[in-house]
Amino acid sequence: MNQIKDLVSQVFTDNFHQKPILIRSPGRVNLIGEHTDYNGGFVLPAATDKAAYLAVNPSDSEKGTWISVDMHERVEVDFSQIIQMPNHRWANYILGVIEQFKNRGIKVQPFNCVLSGNVPIGSGMSSSAALESAVGFAINEMNQVGMDKKQLSKLVQQAENEFIGVKCGIMDMFASIHGKENHVMRLNCETLDFEYFPLNLGNYKIVLFDTGVKHNLVESEYNLRRQQCEEGLIFFRKYFDESVKNLSQVPLAWLQSSKSQMDNLVYNRCQYVIEENQRILSACEDLQAGKLEDFGIKMTATHEGLRNLYEVSCKELDFLVDAVWHETSVLGSRMMGGGFGGCTINLIKTDAIDELYSRLSISYENKTNIKLEMYSVVTANGTEIL
Ligand code: GLA
Repeated sequence: MNQIKDLVSQVFTDNFHQKPILIRSPGRVNLIGEHTDYNGGFVLPAATDKAAYLAVNPSDSEKGTWISVDMHERVEVDFSQIIQMPNHRWANYILGVIEQFKNRGIKVQPFNCVLSGNVPIGSGMSSSAALESAVGFAINEMNQVGMDKKQLSKLVQQAENEFIGVKCGIMDMFASIHGKENHVMRLNCETLDFEYFPLNLGNYKIVLFDTGVKHNLVESEYNLRRQQCEEGLIFFRKYFDESVKNLSQVPLAWLQSSKSQMDNLVYNRCQYVIEENQRILSACEDLQAGKLEDFGIKMTATHEGLRNLYEVSCKELDFLVDAVWHETSVLGSRMMGGGFGGCTINLIKTDAIDELYSRLSISYENKTNIKLEMYSVVTANGTEIL
C-alpha cells in the first residue's frame, strides 16, 4: 500500500465527494552532467521512488479548490484569472502550468486537487518539477489534449521559466516524465534524443547526503551562470564559427586559444561546461563497460569543476564531499543539481553505507549544527496515472 497515494485520495474524497484521478510524479537524481542542460549538452538523470502525488478531478464551476496536505493550506482559484499567489508558492507551480496550456490556445477545465509528496523540498531533487509534471499530465488527461511526453516536458519547463522565473534547463521535468525503473537516461538537451542505460551498480549504491541548507543565492546565481554562458557562446560565434549551436559543442582548443581575450570569469564558466560535457560522455562509456571506479573518479572531478570554475558549491557541500571522497568504500562524490545547498550524490559500497553515515553525521553536525539526512536512491518509472 502506498500511504501518500491513499492519503491524497482520501482527502480528495472527503472534500469533494468524488473519486479522483491519481497521479504519481517522481523527483530525480543526476549522476553526472551538471549545468550542461541549458548549454545544449548531455545529462544522465534517473527518476526516483520519491514522488509528488496529485489527486485531481474537474470541478463543476469556474473555480477550483486546491489543497496542499503538507503545507496545511487550501486555496480557491478563479480559473479565468491566472495570477501569482505570493503567499502560496506551491500553488504557483500549478498556475504556471495552466497558463502554458492557455498560451497554447487550449481551454483548461477548472479542477479541484489535493497534493502531497515525499520528495524532500530544497534538496535539489526537483520537487517542483515533479509537481509541475504531475499537473501537466493531469491537464493533458482531463482535457484530452493529446500532447506527448516531450511536448509536456517542454511545456513544464516553460512554466518554470516564465511563471516562477527560474531559467532552468529541461533536465528535471524531462527526467521526471521519462524515468524508467533501474535505468538512467542519457539525454541530449539540444535535440531531446535520449537513451536508457541499465543501472548496474553491483555492490554499490547511489546515496544522497542532504546538507539541509538552501542558500538564497540559488536563483540569482543560477540565472547569472546562464548569462555568463551565453556571453561565452556569443564570443565563440563571433570569433570562430557563427553556426555553433551551443556552448557544449565548442572545442576545448577554441577556448584555450582565447584565454587572453576573454573575461576571466566567463572563461572559467566555459571551461567547466565544455569539460563537463566531454566528461559525461566518457562516464557513460565507463558505466556501460562496468568501470565503476572510473565513473566515480569523474563524478568527483565534476565537483572540482563546479567548486572552482563554475563556483556554484558552498561550504556545506564541500564539507560533505571532502569528508568522503578518499574513503575506500566511496567511488565518487559531488554536489548535485543547481548548487548552493541541497544534496551531494555519492557512489558507496553497500555494506559500508551505515557506518559511513553515522561517522559523517557526527562530524557534519559538529561543524554546522544541522542534522544530516541520508537518502538511498531507488530508481522508478516516470510520471504516471495510477
Ligand atoms: C537545476 C535546474 C536544471 C539543471 C541543474 C544543474 O536543477 O533546474 O535544469 O540546470 O540545476 O544541472
